[in-house]
Amino acid sequence: MEDNAVEEILFGKSVFRNEATLLSEYVPPRLPRRQHEVMRLAQNFRPLLIRDGAFAVNVAIIGEAGTGKSALAKFVMEKIAQAASKKGIRILFEYFNCYTFRTKSAVLRNLLTEHFHILSRGFSDEELLSMLVKRLVSENAKLIVVLDEAPILGGEEILSMLHAPEVYGFGQSRISTVVISRPSEWRVMLSAPLSGHIHDQINMSSYDKEDLLEILRYRADMAFIPGVVPEEILQMAAEIAASTRNARHGIEILYQAGKRADSDGKSQLTADMIRHAKESVYPELRYDIFYTLKSHEILTALGIARSLNSRGSTSTTIDDAYDYYRLVCEEEGFSPQLKPSFRKNATLLLNLGFMGLIVGPVEKGKRGRHGRITLYDIPASILEERLHDILSRLKKGGLDGTD
Ligand SMILES: Nc1ncnc2c1ncn2[C@@H]1O[C@H](COP(=O)(O)OP(=O)(O)OP(=O)(O)O)[C@@H](O)[C@H]1O
Ligand SMILES: [Mg+2]
Repeated sequence: MEDNAVEEILFGKSVFRNEATLLSEYVPPRLPRRQHEVMRLAQNFRPLLIRDGAFAVNVAIIGEAGTGKSALAKFVMEKIAQAASKKGIRILFEYFNCYTFRTKSAVLRNLLTEHFHILSRGFSDEELLSMLVKRLVSENAKLIVVLDEAPILGGEEILSMLHAPEVYGFGQSRISTVVISRPSEWRVMLSAPLSGHIHDQINMSSYDKEDLLEILRYRADMAFIPGVVPEEILQMAAEIAASTRNARHGIEILYQAGKRADSDGKSQLTADMIRHAKESVYPELRYDIFYTLKSHEILTALGIARSLNSRGSTSTTIDDAYDYYRLVCEEEGFSPQLKPSFRKNATLLLNLGFMGLIVGPVEKGKRGRHGRITLYDIPASILEERLHDILSRLKKGGLDGTD
């Protein structure tokens, strides 16, 4: 019986023809409604393909959530890589999500190891940068670094990477950058320090319903078996995503609805499945960023979600969340870290904006103000479910050090 059930899942029918194309890291072979931006970004980097020697360009891509900034950067970098290799020009690329690479030294060390196999612990940032530049010169190579979620790294850190004449010599830079940010963070944190160094700023307008409809139709054709997603269902998903103007919102709704169709053994998406999916998709919750977290950071988030869920409360304390964290660790086969590390992880989650802190009144007999942790808008049960998915992907992939 049990065996049959598993076989059913593994060999049973699915509405998907290629479900992986709906995952956030997938970059599609076309970006409808962004032809103009694709051309413009490519145009910016054209000189790297025709000019020999040192040349660098810095471009900013600015737009609200789900407007295709990350997709645009990855898409165009891929095209440049193909063109460079055809022409026999050495252009190196690296994409960084600054949620994972949170400091300049992390970025530089990664560049040195990935491209030049140099293990570079124990050097200062200046030394790292100088090593990198020397290698680029000696190998006559140019480098394009994409800094996604750039505000996490901060203006000063980025600036010192773009602008180090003492390292490069005037006009001799070989490191180009693509800096990606949401508009408000760009204005507050990056535009002032970087303004004189950005050669072009590409503003990504938010999508309207027509844009979303075309994008979703394209993505659905790629992901689903023909006939699975009727036109009125696409319209409905586009309508919902138009409320946030975020393409990710619409794509996740289609994905969740498809999952439901499969689990219910249905061969078409229905309005009910879309309505249901709508309830479980929170475009403000950045799953793609959750994937950048380390296992104990996810376990910490799980502990917090579980504690909120179990108490049915809207906020919890560090102590309570820590107890649940230990429980979750045991269930998942991890050995729990001590409370100070837990506290550090919780602070990180707060700083990254996954959770909020309510600072309460000073309690009698206690020093300082004790915050209570809360979740914005997202039900704890949904968060818990998603975190479990992410953790199991992490475990399967074996990607993770357990630090
Ligand atoms: N024009 C488009 N055509 C096809 N897919 C698109 C298009 N624009 C965005 N997408 C898809 O929508 C999702 C969100 O896009 P992306 O991650 O690039 O947004 P973003 O602007 O980087 O958002 P955030 O600020 O939240 O990081 C991705 O799955 C992406 O592939
Ligand atoms: Mg992005």
